[in-house]
Amino acid sequence: MIAPLEESHIDQVCAIEKVSFPLPWPREAFLGELSLPYGKSWCWLEGDRVLGYLIAWKSFEDFHIINLAVSPEARGRGIARNLLRHALEWARGARAERSLLEVRSSNAAARALYLSAGFEVVGIRKNYYELPTEDGLILEKRLEEK
Ligand SMILES: CC(C)(COP(=O)(O)OP(=O)(O)OC[C@H]1O[C@@H](n2cnc3c(N)ncnc32)[C@H](O)[C@@H]1OP(=O)(O)O)[C@@H](O)C(=O)NCCC(=O)NCCS
Repeated sequence: MIAPLEESHIDQVCAIEKVSFPLPWPREAFLGELSLPYGKSWCWLEGDRVLGYLIAWKSFEDFHIINLAVSPEARGRGIARNLLRHALEWARGARAERSLLEVRSSNAAARALYLSAGFEVVGIRKNYYELPTEDGLILEKRLEEK
């Protein structure tokens, strides 16, 4: 089930974040997202267990997806696809015109997820990521397209 992200979820979110990224966001960063007027965050819950989350910003016509991860043991079950679909539906309802995100060029799973959801590569940020240093691909999806 998809639910709005709340403070009570953040410990579990941090645990997923730590095993998902070489430079994990600190707890304060997630807490800060909850009070941003332009922030929108959801998680995937099974009972009390958080299995994934998506953090985004709505800025005028743009909807930026800034973090997405699924717990390793729950990957491959469609959780990220469902979180993404839900977020994009919300963004359409909020009259966003396009969704944008950055992804590591070597992140095959995330690239496949986004391309299959209709995102296209529109640019490259050279050496955008650290540990290891790597280019970031800028992906965009027009939201009038389903
Ligand atoms: C990327 C990530 C969020 C995918 O989560 P997930 O819940 O396992 O993904 P889903 O099960 O919803 O898969 C949806 C699609 O993504 C792609 N995909 C997911 N895992 C994949 C993998 N290991 N290899 C290739 N493609 C993959 C496929 O296209 C898949 O569709 P399919 O099942 O019809 O083939 C997850 O692997 C993760 O948390 N990775 C670490 C954090 C990260 O990289 N986040 C993205 C930052 S931009």
